[in-house]
Formats: sequence, C-alpha cells, structure tokens
Amino acid sequence: MSFSYQNKVVWITGASSGIGEALAHQFYAKGCKLVLSSRRKEELERVSTKLSANSSNVLILPLDLENTSTINELTQKVIQTFGKIDILINNAGFSQRSLVKDTPLEIDRKLMEVNFFGTIALTKSVLPYMIKQKNGHFVVVSSIAGKFGFYFRSAYSASKHALHGFFEALRMEVFNDNIKILMVCPGKVKTNISINAITGDGGKHNVMDQSQENGVSADECAKQILKGIENNKYEIFIGGKELRAIWIKRFFPNLFTNLIRKQKPE
Ligand SMILES: NC(=O)c1ccc[n+]([C@@H]2O[C@H](COP(=O)([O-])OP(=O)(O)OC[C@H]3O[C@@H](n4cnc5c(N)ncnc54)[C@H](OP(=O)(O)O)[C@@H]3O)[C@@H](O)[C@H]2O)c1
Repeated sequence: MSFSYQNKVVWITGASSGIGEALAHQFYAKGCKLVLSSRRKEELERVSTKLSANSSNVLILPLDLENTSTINELTQKVIQTFGKIDILINNAGFSQRSLVKDTPLEIDRKLMEVNFFGTIALTKSVLPYMIKQKNGHFVVVSSIAGKFGFYFRSAYSASKHALHGFFEALRMEVFNDNIKILMVCPGKVKTNISINAITGDGGKHNVMDQSQENGVSADECAKQILKGIENNKYEIFIGGKELRAIWIKRFFPNLFTNLIRKQKPE
C-alpha cells in the first residue's frame, strides 16, 4: 500500500522556529493534522496563522521540555482532540557554545534535561497510545554532534549521543508493535540554533555562526525528514560537506581524531 500523510496526526516539538516550523508547513500541506509545541505560545500562533490553518486541524500546545510534570495531561489533550497520534517529531532542543572548563555542571544538566530527558519523557507519555494503536512513528532530531564530539558542544553532543542509545533500544522493543523510529542527524541547517545556544554563564551565544549561515535551508531539511519517514529509514544525515566527518570517523577513526581537531572551532 502506498504511503499517505493525509489525516495523519503529527505532534511537532520546537514548532515555533527553524526546522520545526518548516516541518509544520510541509506536513500541513500534505493534509496532516498538527499539534504545535514549544515554550513560546505567541510564536506557535504566528506559525499556525502562516499556515492559513483550518483551526480545527491545528492544536497549539505550549510545552517546556525542562518541566515535564504536565506532559501526560498534554498527551491526553492531543488524544481528546484528534483521537490518535501517528507521528511524534522530537525536534525541540538547544545547542551550546562553551568549553568544558568554563561550563558549570548546572548548564550540562540543563542541556541533558531539555534535549534528552524532556524528549524521552514526551516519548514515554505517547508510547502507550502508539502501542495500543499498533502503529506509530517517532522521529528524533539528533545532530551530527550525536555522532561525534566537537569544540564548545560537550554536553550538547552528550545529550544527542544519549538519544541514539535510548531510541536504538526502543526500536527493538517496539518492533512487533509496528512502531517505527527515525533518527535524523542534521549537519548545518540555517536556523537560529547558534544564536539560541547557551554559553557558560547561562546566557545566549547570540551569534549566527558563519557555518550555520551557509547551511542547508530548514525547508530542505524538512523535505528530507518527510522522505525519511515515507521510506521508513532508521537514520538519515542532512547537510553538506560537514557530513563527511561521519564516514571518516566510521571507517578511519584515527584519521578522524587528527582531522577534526584541526577544524575551525566555531
Ligand atoms: N540548525 C542546525 O544546524 C541543527 C543541526 C543539528 C541538529 N539540530 C537540531 O534541530 C532541532 C531544531 O533546532 P533548529 O535548528 O530549528 O533551532 P531553533 O530555530 O533554535 O529551534 C529550536 C526549537 O526548540 C524549541 N525549544 C527550545 N528549548 C525548548 C524547551 N525547553 N522546551 C520546548 N521547546 C524548546 C524552540 O522554541 P521555544 O523557544 O518557543 O521554546 C524552537 O522552536 C534541535 O534539536 C537541534 O539540536 C539543528
């Protein structure tokens, strides 16, 4: 049977900007019903308005992944509204720009709390419904930083690596429930990620890194994610020449270690 997005219920975290916003547009254009989540309600409303959305097909559900105490109520709200959840896009997250020696442990914990624990808390909340439905797709927006560490991104990279371990285990456990998992590893995508990255003093980096500026568009990234879902891929890499590092690490780990150290530590 050919794949169709028509009437699928797609819950997108981090839908207020960047990759999540681009995903909202592409899923909506394919006839999906959307749940849009992130902290900033007014930005979610802006995205919904831009979709020219039929309001009964879009649910705005503000959510802070650093505080997961209300997550089960939010999941119930989605079920009450749409009756099912077909696809959960775990996309929300933030990056880091600080050396290990300058990063207090509370910032490491914050990165893990949002990027890892927040993501798995939402996943665990949705999972029983997908098991009951005998159908579902978890999409996890990791990063090439989930494949190797890089300057200034120690805890960010750790949080993304942790996602791979968790979701590889989950993939095995739910295979017979017809639940699928797609890990997405973008390289450089032109969004506000470097501007929003946290620094060692807890503030924002507030810089559009040059490599970010030159990255692929959020629309292109979203397009490849939809293709990955349709083709039931386990893992996809999205970006430009920065993706070569993944293959070099896999096949020539010693060479990789020497090469990556010499990259511009932006
Ligand atoms: N851009 C890249 O080059 C790149 C590369 C690799 C991986 N990624 C990953 O792609 C994902 C999306 O990032 P982006 O590039 O689109 O950056 P972005 O424009 O900064 O978007 C990040 C999104 O996450 C949401 N968010 C941040 N903290 C949150 C929290 N505590 N609770 C709920 N939502 C939160 C933000 O919304 P609010 O501020 O409204 O909460 C925003 O919608 C991230 O997981 C990032 O690690 C991006």
